[in-house]
Parts: sequence; C-alpha cells; structure tokens
Amino acid sequence: MQRALKTLGLILLGLALLAGVAITLTIGWRPFIGPKARPLTNRKFEPTPERLARGQYLVENLGCFDCHGEHDWKKHDAPLVEGTKGAGPAEFQLAGLPGRVVPPNITPDRETGAGDWTDDQLARAIREGVGHDGRALFPLMPYLHYRSMSDEDLASVVVYIRSIPAVHRVLPPTKIIFPVKYLMRSAPEPVTAPVPNPDFSNPVERGKYLVNIAGCSDCHTPQKKGQDIPGLEFAGGTILEGPWGRVASANITPDASGISYYDEVMFLKTMRTGYVKAREINQIMGWWHYRNLTDDDLKAMFAYLRTLKPVKHRVDNTEAPALCKVCGAVHGLGDRN
Ligand code: HEC
Ligand code: HEC
Repeated sequence: MQRALKTLGLILLGLALLAGVAITLTIGWRPFIGPKARPLTNRKFEPTPERLARGQYLVENLGCFDCHGEHDWKKHDAPLVEGTKGAGPAEFQLAGLPGRVVPPNITPDRETGAGDWTDDQLARAIREGVGHDGRALFPLMPYLHYRSMSDEDLASVVVYIRSIPAVHRVLPPTKIIFPVKYLMRSAPEPVTAPVPNPDFSNPVERGKYLVNIAGCSDCHTPQKKGQDIPGLEFAGGTILEGPWGRVASANITPDASGISYYDEVMFLKTMRTGYVKAREINQIMGWWHYRNLTDDDLKAMFAYLRTLKPVKHRVDNTEAPALCKVCGAVHGLGDRN
C-alpha cells in the first residue's frame, strides 16, 4: 500500500515536472504570474508648448480617438460624438473580439478618467501595455507598436492627453474571456533603453516610424490566432465588421494585386479624401484623421510602403466575398488567390 502510494506520488511529481517544462517551453509562466512590468518611476514630462503641439498632432491624426472616443460609424467621415473625446465608447464595436473590450476614459477627469494617474503610469500603459492598475492590457490597444514611439514623442502624447477637456464618464471594465485573458499576459514588455527619434530627414525612416506608430499593420497584416501570418505583411484580408459594415483591409504592398498603381499624388489623395478615384474607402480606415497629416509625413509613409516586399494577394471589397486559401478569410476575390 505504502509502495503504491509512493509510486503514485512519484508519478504525480513527474507529471507536475513535465507540465512545468511544457509550460516553460510553450506559453511560459506569464499567464499565471501576471505581465512583465517594471516598477513605476516618478518621472514627470514638462508640458512645453512644443510638446503640446507635437502631442496634439500625433494623438489627433494617428488614431488614439478612433478607439478612445465614440463615433458615428455609419457616416463616411465617422464623426466623433460630442463630449466623448478620450472617453468612450462603452464597448469597442468590432465583431469577433474575445469578450468585452473597453478603451478606457483617458481624459483628465479625476474620478472616472486618468486625472489621478501619474505621467509614468500613462507612459507605461502606452508603450509597455501595463495599465495604471498593473494589469496586462488587451493588445487591441496598440502598445506593441507604440513601443517604438520615441521618448520625446511619448512625452508629447502624455502632455497632450492631459490637456484635453476632462469628461466625467464611467465605462464598464474590459472583460476578456478564458483562456485569452491569461494568454495575453505575455504580451506586455518593459521598455528599458532610451528610444531616440528616428532620422526625420530620411523619408523612408520617417515613414517607417509613422506607419508603425499608426498601427497600419494591425489592420493590413492578416492574422491567424492573434499572430501575424508570416509572408503576408501589409497584404490585407483582415475582416473588420461593425456598424460601418463588413470590409476586408486592402493589400497595400507594391504588388500588382496591391497598390503598385499608386503614385505619391494618388496616395495623398486617398488618405485625404477617403476615395480612390470614384471608389469610396470604408470609414473604418481612418482617412478622416490621416487627412490632417502633413504632406511631408504622408509622402514619407508612401516612400516606406514602396520599400515593402510585394505580396501577391487579391482583395477587393467590390466583389462578392469568397474563401481565400492564402489568408483563410472570406473576402472579395478570395477565390482568385
Ligand atoms: C485600436 C484601438 C486603440 C487605439 C488606436 C488606442 N487605444 Fe488606448 N486602449 C485601447 C483599449 C481597448 C484599452 C484597454 C485595454 C484593456 O482594458 O485591456 C486601451 C488602454 C489605454 C490606456 C490604459 C489605461 C489604463 O487603464 O491604465 C491608455 C493610457 C491608453 N489606452 C492611451 C492611448 C493613447 C495615448 C493612444 C494613441 C497614441 C491609444 N491609447 C490608442 C484601445 C486603443
Ligand atoms: C482600423 C483598420 C485600419 C487601419 C489602422 C488602417 N487601415 Fe488602411 N484600410 C483598411 C480597410 C478595411 C481598407 C479597405 C477599405 C475599403 O475597401 O473600403 C483600407 C484601405 C486602405 C487603402 C486603400 C487601398 C485601395 O484599395 O486602393 C490604403 C492606401 C490604406 N488603407 C493605407 C493605410 C495606411 C498607410 C495606414 C496607416 C497609416 C492604414 N491604412 C491603416 C483598414 C485600416
């Protein structure tokens, strides 16, 4: 009897060790012990007029309020509902999310917003994915891209969001379903080295930086199980379904099935008008804020997009949706891939 118990004990111990090794080699321990977070510092970003202006430019034109604000998504220019800048909606209305995802109130309201959060709490949330309360943020918040935001731009963003009108608005908490709720704890990663500005005088460098912090690839690179599909970078096909309709993102690589036919003038026009010639671009593609980017910044983005690897992947929202073998989604011209 005792021997049997001992054997059983050894088996259980063996199984526990095996499970331990398996976890270490696969999902890692983060899902159980919480996100990788560095301790908070008491750094303070001095609110200079330059930072305020740069912060306003980045926040307003790169899309923070796409999510941190309520929009009338039925209209082509998706106007912000008055009084919700930085506060709302009560739930992000994108179909297929694993639970209720709520972009929180980041206005300076002290009770319901970020009024009492320190500069470093904001900075850590934006670039490192750890919320003011220490929890891992769901990576719909594009912190994986914002990691590459320079220290100076980060300071500017924080200075600006502290300057917008405080909105008193209680929003429900995010509620992610099992097991994503645990798995996503591996996403946050501290930024421990200084992040300098890129060389803004080099259009490709500048464009790469902007395309990255604008999160273009979040929509334009299709994913499988939450991971970018290798080889399909910027090749489109991601389905975005909500009050704006159901559309697939476009292939924006310089392939014939992408936007090889664009020139700089056409790119600027598309990004500013929401039309490609007579074809209307769906409002989930935020042309209505990109339109305020400077000519130089838009030209730099285009210069960078031109350097991407051309990927053959036909996507066309004017055609009937069909299953695509390449990206696995059901989108226009999917059957021609
Ligand atoms: C694509 C949508 C999206 C965009 C764009 C976006 N956010 Fe978020 N943000 C979210 C969501 C969703 C959360 C909450 C995630 C959660 O609760 O797990 C969040 C959380 C945050 C938080 C953390 C709040 C806390 O609890 O500590 C801050 C700060 C923040 N966002 C600021 C910004 C700023 C600044 C920008 C632009 C530079 C931005 N966000 C752009 C969706 C977005
Ligand atoms: C929230 C998701 C989203 C983000 C972020 C996004 N796009 Fe798009 N984009 C789309 C969708 C969806 C379409 C297709 C719209 C349609 O066909 O009506 C599109 C279409 C386009 C087109 C038009 C291509 C054509 O059909 O001729 C261009 C160009 C483009 N995006 C560039 C960009 C760039 C550059 C960025 C980053 C600065 C960006 N997009 C960010 C979703 C997004």
